[in-house]
Amino acid sequence: MARTRATTTPHTPDRSAVRTLLRLWPYVRPARLRLFTAAFVAIVASGTGLVIPLVLKWLVDGPVADRDTGGVWLGALWLLLLGLAEALLFGLRRWLVARPLSHVEASMRAALYERLQRLPVAFHDRWPSGQLLSRATADLGLLRMFLAFPLTFLLVNGVTILIGVVIMLLQDWTLGLVILGPVVPVIVMCVYFENRYAVVARRAQDQVGDLTTVVEESVLGIRIIKGFGRHRSQARAFRELSSTLRGTELRKARLLATIWAVIVTLPELAIGAALVLGAVQVADGELSAGTLVAFLSTALALRWPVDSIGFLLAMSQEAATATERYFEVMDELPEDPGGTGAHTTTGAGDAGAAAGGGLCFSGVVFRYPDAALDSPPTLDGVDLHIRPGESMALVGATGSGKTTLTALVPRLHEVTAGRITLDGEDITALPREELRARVAVAFEEPTLFSASVGENVLMGADDRAGSAELARALEVAQADFAHALPQGVDTQVGEQGLSLSGGQRQRLALARAVVGQPRFLVLDDPLSALDVHTEAAVEAALRQVLADTTALIVAHRPSTVLLADRVALLSGGRVTAVGTHHELLRRNAEYAHLMSGTGRQEDDR
Ligand SMILES: Nc1ncnc2c1ncn2[C@@H]1O[C@H](COP(=O)(O)OP(=O)(O)OP(=O)(O)O)[C@@H](O)[C@H]1O
Ligand SMILES: [Mg+2]
Repeated sequence: MARTRATTTPHTPDRSAVRTLLRLWPYVRPARLRLFTAAFVAIVASGTGLVIPLVLKWLVDGPVADRDTGGVWLGALWLLLLGLAEALLFGLRRWLVARPLSHVEASMRAALYERLQRLPVAFHDRWPSGQLLSRATADLGLLRMFLAFPLTFLLVNGVTILIGVVIMLLQDWTLGLVILGPVVPVIVMCVYFENRYAVVARRAQDQVGDLTTVVEESVLGIRIIKGFGRHRSQARAFRELSSTLRGTELRKARLLATIWAVIVTLPELAIGAALVLGAVQVADGELSAGTLVAFLSTALALRWPVDSIGFLLAMSQEAATATERYFEVMDELPEDPGGTGAHTTTGAGDAGAAAGGGLCFSGVVFRYPDAALDSPPTLDGVDLHIRPGESMALVGATGSGKTTLTALVPRLHEVTAGRITLDGEDITALPREELRARVAVAFEEPTLFSASVGENVLMGADDRAGSAELARALEVAQADFAHALPQGVDTQVGEQGLSLSGGQRQRLALARAVVGQPRFLVLDDPLSALDVHTEAAVEAALRQVLADTTALIVAHRPSTVLLADRVALLSGGRVTAVGTHHELLRRNAEYAHLMSGTGRQEDDR
């Protein structure tokens, strides 16, 4: 299971984490007031912590030196109150950020989901679903954590360190300079660490996406895996990916451990040096004991802000990576709403055909965006005119491009050249929504959603359609079995519900296609899973529906072809023959061969 394609765009190491994170601002904006207040509260809390050493100094040099018990009690009371205030303020901060941040996460997730719905099919062909899933879950979780914690605390701890250093320098500037000694090496290490960590963090998050893809495929393909006894190889693929991920996570941990060691050790050494130096000065009478106590307890109060910088930076880096991955999807261009007529036509001599009604393909060329450049296009100049109210069967060898052609009509893919018109109107000139309301489709793979039978079928109509339309559509599609389900048309189907047979699902998909009484119907082999008798019954019912609908029906079997008024043969990327079934049987050898039932022509062009 090679999944190398999955890891999308290569990481650019020179991107700035700050610039990336700034892109979050539009989402964070609504929560800005709370976030700023929270940061302010945290700074005040931290400041309160820094007052404690000053009280200590007063206590040591004042009441303790004077053996004034009352003063000591008073000082102790102050210390207690200050400690309490600090704790309360930090609690307040947490309360302030929790709710608005879950809103931020939810709105980002909603935006991502909406974008995924509006991105073209070509995008979804290209991106493994696990990568999208991990972005919507793991990455957004990381971002919420970042906004709740590292974002505020990088600021708060920075300010705390600054205030603390000023206090220490004011107490005794020589000792202060000793404490400041490690600043330069620590900063250098942090910058170096940031760059290394960014690369590894990105790799880890991409690998989570790959792993998600494997898990998802294994769950969806569980029947095939079991049927072919592939669970061992599947488990091996999973183990390999997860051990790669583990390796990456270990590298992250090692990097973090290194930086942490530096950040913790160097200041510790500086504090030790200051202690020795300070003690000597106190002994010489150059420094009051209270000042030394205040100095050292300030230095100790700064230990957590300094120590935390390592993992705060790491978390910020992960958040930057998550942001990057989020916007890789958000920056993809969605389908334009259509109706601009921006698409230029290259088909020549199509004016005459376009003037007619119905569904008209002229000079349609299509090449899949990810196809090899030297391969011929899948469709290479398709000309076909389906008259209004006519139903046309589309026949061709497997792999000849029938499904591809049907997908072009609702603009699931865009034609490379040429044009398609509905009643004389270029489909690129129609708003997508209107186009898709006019054209109903049913595909080879009948997809049902986790919803009731009725909801699945009514998806094909506008909101006005109700039970009458539903009943009629079920009847046309010979899907009466739906009424016999445990809860009738309210029975839940799809992944979360009752399992239906392939033919049952196909009939529901067909019902969905006809329920809106569309003007144009595009069916991709809609009856392939039905037995001959059911197929005949569906055909008889469809005939009535098709009477005033223009339809393009992909067919493999003569019985399905007979449903249509005429047949078109797709071969070599073009329509090579059009006529009635009987005409083509007589005139066209390839058609006769395809329909002869002596086995399908299994060539892929
Ligand atoms: N998403 C895609 N990206 C690249 N190539 C594709 C894609 N989908 C299909 N193709 C290729 O386009 C060609 C036509 O495929 P298509 O599905 O249209 O055939 P078909 O006529 O519907 O076949 P069948 O009768 O088996 O359903 C095939 O060679 C296929 O490999
Ligand atoms: Mg097909």
